Amino acid sequence: IKKIGVLTSGGDSPGMNAAIRSVVRTCAFHNIGCVGIYRGYQGMIEGDFKEMGPRSVNNIVNKGGTILKSARSMDFKTPEGREKAHKNLVKAGIDALVVIGGDGSFTGALLFNSEYDFPVMGIPGTIDNDIYGTSYTLGYDTALNTVVEVIDKIRDTASSHNRLFLIEVMGRDAGHIALNAGIGAGAEEILIPEEDLGLDRLLDSLRKSKAAGKSSSIVVISEGDKIGKTVFELKDYVESNFPEYDVRVSVLGHMQRGGAPSCFDRVLASRLGVKAVESLLEGESNYMVGILADKIVLTPLEQAIKGDSEIDTELLRVSDIMSI
Ligand code: F6P
Repeated sequence: IKKIGVLTSGGDSPGMNAAIRSVVRTCAFHNIGCVGIYRGYQGMIEGDFKEMGPRSVNNIVNKGGTILKSARSMDFKTPEGREKAHKNLVKAGIDALVVIGGDGSFTGALLFNSEYDFPVMGIPGTIDNDIYGTSYTLGYDTALNTVVEVIDKIRDTASSHNRLFLIEVMGRDAGHIALNAGIGAGAEEILIPEEDLGLDRLLDSLRKSKAAGKSSSIVVISEGDKIGKTVFELKDYVESNFPEYDVRVSVLGHMQRGGAPSCFDRVLASRLGVKAVESLLEGESNYMVGILADKIVLTPLEQAIKGDSEIDTELLRVSDIMSI
């Protein structure tokens, strides 16, 4: 392998820049070329490339977002799009790819490999932490810290006004952000897609809170929960059952994806980037690099996409005990 292409694809996440920096500098360390591909697979199709060296990635380890920009490319889903992308890579002398993104990005990488036998390596970058084969995805730790910081602030208002806050957090179909940030921020109740506790349980819990003498409450709700109501419908439902509660809704939204990466995400990104490049140089392909029990390990991309990034249900019990 003489030249590696690196791209970020799907939703951006804090730590992607640190991963780009790591890939670029590991290539330089091993005396091979590195090309940044802009706007994910769309840039591959349009030939939007830039040669990168160690100095192209100065001062980005601390920056959120991705300097290479990101996109969810529809054209790459077509054989014609992938053919154009392949031609561009060959023309630029790129002979392997590092794809930083989530499961959609990995699905594209696998398909591309199967059609063109092109070496690919994935780095998990998403705040959702919903990828099998890694305990942490890039950006998840930062997002947790952001959510906890914001809920701490909301708690000030909740307790000053004796209010109940329903706080919706991201995570797509996974409840990792809700569960962990919920415990970290001391939520009364946490609703996640993996464990549908139902509306009765929520009401019961709020009843208990009141009886236990709590004057304000925080409920953290994962956007993918299976309760069957939007967070605003839930507000109406709670208010109709508890007229004494003054309920407010806060949907945290994209603030969860931004900001400077935490130290954990920066170190993780640096480690994953080194492993991704060195694995390609050792002739490996079709893997995702991840972290399990603090070791950087490879998981076949196919498993990473299809596997279940299980939620630790013991955390639900911890949350219950904490909200007594
Ligand atoms: O996958 C990251 C994520 O932020 C999810 O948590 C969320 O459901 C989705 O992306 C939002 O996507 P978009 O930025 O396209 O609205």
